[in-house]
Amino acid sequence: MSWYNLGLFLHLGCVVAAFWFAAQIHVGMERLWSADTSGQALQALDLTHSGARWMPWIGLALLLTGAYLTQSRWNWALPWISISIVGLIALEGFGGASGKGRRKLRQRLQGQPLNAPLAPEFVAAARGPLARTVHFMLPLLTVGIMLVMVTKPGALGGVIELVVAAAIGAAWGSRRSLSPRREPHEEIARS
Ligand code: HEM
Repeated sequence: MSWYNLGLFLHLGCVVAAFWFAAQIHVGMERLWSADTSGQALQALDLTHSGARWMPWIGLALLLTGAYLTQSRWNWALPWISISIVGLIALEGFGGASGKGRRKLRQRLQGQPLNAPLAPEFVAAARGPLARTVHFMLPLLTVGIMLVMVTKPGALGGVIELVVAAAIGAAWGSRRSLSPRREPHEEIARS
């Protein structure tokens, strides 16, 4: 195996890790959206945080392994390389903003009894359409970057791939934000 192959393997390993922790974040967010008490919301936020705290490191590892691959066989002037870097910065930026929002939600729960019902304002803030839209947009944006890496398009093609992927994710998230909140007895009936 060449050093390049090893670098590519590590790069792809980072992609797998990103989706692994994204799944953890997603489960936490779904639990947050269906939480009824402070304790349930705190547990959900903790689960989300335990996945989200790895994301900046995974982003850095993607950048470093990607930089190694670019330097060894490709060229920094290639549009698909610049587009992937912009996409990665967007991912980290939106991810960081979502994390900040979740930290604010956590602060609101501080000092409340674990069995206290969630205030309607908290539920509205946690289920806000913007938060959901961004939450669903990020994994699709990552899929868009994967598509850019695999197809290696020119500047226009790359931008279209990223924008379409992110728009699909955003549309999916905003649709989910329109659906009514499921009550616990409905969850049981569905299972
Ligand atoms: C979320 C961010 C990223 C994802 C999901 C991602 C995904 C991928 C995937 C799936 C491949 C395999 C493509 C193939 O073998 O055809 C790949 C390869 C590659 N990536 Fe990334 N990547 C990301 C970020 C980056 C960044 C920031 C750079 C540059 C600094 C980069 C540079 C490369 C290079 C040079 C290859 C090798 C292409 C080849 O040998 O065919 N990647 N990436």
